[in-house]
Amino acid sequence: MHGTSSFLIVANRLPVDRVGEKEWRRSPGGLVTAIAPVMQRRNGAWLGWTGAAEEELKPFDDDGMHLIPVPMSALEVELYYEGFSNATLWPLYHDVVAAPVYSRVLWDAYRAVNDRFARAAADAAAPGAVVWVQDYQLQLVPAMLRRLRPDLKIGFFLHIPFPPAELFWQLPWRNEILEGLLGADLVGFQRPGGASNFIRLCRRLLGLQNHRNEILVDGRTVRADAFPISVDFGELDQMVREPRIQARAKEIRAELGDPEHVLLGVDRLDYTKGIGQRLKAFGELLGDGTVKPGEAAFVQVATPTRERVAEYIRLRNDIELKVGRINGEHGMLGSQPITYLHQSYSKAELAALYCAADVMVVTPLRDGMNLVAKEYVSCRHDLRGALVLSEFAGAADELRQAFLVNPYDIEGMKRAMIAAMRATPHELGRRMRSLRRRVATHNVDKWASDFLTALDAH
Ligand code: ADP
Ligand code: G6P
Repeated sequence: MHGTSSFLIVANRLPVDRVGEKEWRRSPGGLVTAIAPVMQRRNGAWLGWTGAAEEELKPFDDDGMHLIPVPMSALEVELYYEGFSNATLWPLYHDVVAAPVYSRVLWDAYRAVNDRFARAAADAAAPGAVVWVQDYQLQLVPAMLRRLRPDLKIGFFLHIPFPPAELFWQLPWRNEILEGLLGADLVGFQRPGGASNFIRLCRRLLGLQNHRNEILVDGRTVRADAFPISVDFGELDQMVREPRIQARAKEIRAELGDPEHVLLGVDRLDYTKGIGQRLKAFGELLGDGTVKPGEAAFVQVATPTRERVAEYIRLRNDIELKVGRINGEHGMLGSQPITYLHQSYSKAELAALYCAADVMVVTPLRDGMNLVAKEYVSCRHDLRGALVLSEFAGAADELRQAFLVNPYDIEGMKRAMIAAMRATPHELGRRMRSLRRRVATHNVDKWASDFLTALDAH
């Protein structure tokens, strides 16, 4: 049996998330930000989960995309999504910044849900279709799908880092994951290091041979390569030129009391993002008098995410305690140094926040790419604004003119924040021009077409 889609995206999440009975909103995270514009332009179908448990929905169209929901039971959400995906793989692939949970029950659920996605994709894909599987939640799908539909062209892209062999080695199901990925014709990573980690592991664990980036498997070749993901530069660049966005940016600054410096963080509330470290650095600048009360305001937008996973509950408590302490010690009646917003926003409101911020602080402990950094750059056609960026974000490979920091080094972060606040307009302009050149030419369309051209040529 086969379907009618000749271009199919398979991702754990659909680009829209259920809120209430009939309403949908954009799902959180970088994967959706990047793939949605690609889909809107290529007229394909997107297969994924709606974010709600126990929901059986027929395929539907939204925002120019054809969406095919894959159902999940409450137990599967707990074991496959919150469990193996986000309590095992997520911390393991992000340098073990939290301890991964290894449990056979979680693994069994991961296999079962991957199998459901593979079957749904096999049913939806037209003969000879291109199927593009996304991210760490679905690493078994390529091999499962190939077994069901050997006629398909299968691509896989990992949005998060692929860990070094020494860490990946911990995973009790390491061979199965590698074999799952090898079902694809092309396996894409954010950085060249991810691709070489993968190739090295295939050699050492599976005894496979490779010629440069091509791995030989069962008489086929699988290519592993880097394709750094990006944002829709043109859309953001245009949006921020609208008077309503500029007016809103001014209003935001006024609401903050028109301080000399506005610093901004925008992240899912995730322990990989280094939110605590950056707030600590800012708190110390206030504490030692380097920054005077009222001189700078820090806005931290922390999108709710994975709220039932233990590490995320702990993190939320830590961050909220930290914000309360700093505001308690350094706030004044009617003015607080940190504005903490545990909410989701529209693209337009985020764009206005980016325009209002003098310093964008992006300090993950490990991040596949970090699209927030690229969004900020896309929004600053005025050539103002400074980007403080962690060396441990994939984006640091490309955004060399940012104020680069080691987020574990609190003194270094304090110095970088001060340097960013005090840089001359000339220096900011020079840096921003170079950052923008990079993101404008390496936008999300280039990323998708590089990947799909390589897949087509395979
Ligand atoms: P990750 O994929 O780990 O979440 P990225 O920085 O790559 O990190 O991507 C985050 C995406 O989510 C960006 O496109 C950003 O604009 C979006 N986002 C972050 N916070 C919010 C929020 N509060 N409301 C809406 N979108 C958000
Ligand atoms: C990151 C991951 C995505 C994920 C997103 C949001 O970007 O790479 O796969 O969709 O975070 O996380 P969530 O768990 O809400 O889907």
